[in-house]
Amino acid sequence: MNNSKPIGVFDSGYGGLTILKELVKELPTHDFMYVGDNARAPYGSRSFETVYQYTLEAVRWFIYQGCELVVLACNTASAKALRTIQQRDLPSIDPAKRVLGVIRPTTEVIGSLTKTGSVGILGTSGTVTSNSYPIEIHHFFSNCKVYQQACPMWVPLIENGEADQPGADYFVQKYLQQILAQSPDIDTLLLACTHYPLLLKKIEQLLPAQIRVVTQGEIVAKSLSQYLARHPEINQLCTQSSDLQFYTTDSPAEFERQATLFFGAPLKAYHTDLVVKMDSKGL
Ligand code: DGL
Repeated sequence: MNNSKPIGVFDSGYGGLTILKELVKELPTHDFMYVGDNARAPYGSRSFETVYQYTLEAVRWFIYQGCELVVLACNTASAKALRTIQQRDLPSIDPAKRVLGVIRPTTEVIGSLTKTGSVGILGTSGTVTSNSYPIEIHHFFSNCKVYQQACPMWVPLIENGEADQPGADYFVQKYLQQILAQSPDIDTLLLACTHYPLLLKKIEQLLPAQIRVVTQGEIVAKSLSQYLARHPEINQLCTQSSDLQFYTTDSPAEFERQATLFFGAPLKAYHTDLVVKMDSKGL
């Protein structure tokens, strides 16, 4: 361990790199430490308890590495684990640390992007069944109509390098038809899974032109930047030497090969098993 205090960024695998890419653009001098739990991905079809346990392990690991602030750049982890970690675990691990998710920043703005007041949410089965999006959107936009569709085949297609292939059209079309069939008024579709931006081109090609597709990267990046401006006491603890570190729970070589697609630049990755030595703080 050294004195660096990067912002931790967590995802079940590669998808969070689409968020990290925008975080680095927005906060180019900050240090970031990314973990992809590739060995246990996908999270989308796992139970609440499992996603919570895996995410908590990662949060403990980030804190052990010196992170003051961790962003769960995974919708499924944000939906299934964030609140419990914030309310139940952080107070005993270290109440000064902060863990943020991607759902809140997105739901704060999504209702202002629709003209018809009808929004479609495309996410993993875990995110959709948690109902986190409708609940959170209604906090900020009480009249907004929210429709949801789980797209369980999209992450496997993306992870297997099939996102640009003609074979992917069937499953892209299938879930788009299913969500649009829920209401003719939907004019805004949110890609509420960090993997889905890799299907953006195909999704836009298959959708009617009047429907706007929204990705989360820029929204989350702007929101984090505003959060740090509101909390200078946290911002000043985060080191700023433009350092980026990447870890995976699976093979670093495979991570480096696939990650470029999501991050848009080559990177060097290391392995972690997310094991933390216990100490008096319960870490
Ligand atoms: N990254 C996850 C999300 O944003 C999806 C991938 C998975 O199922 O692990 O929901």
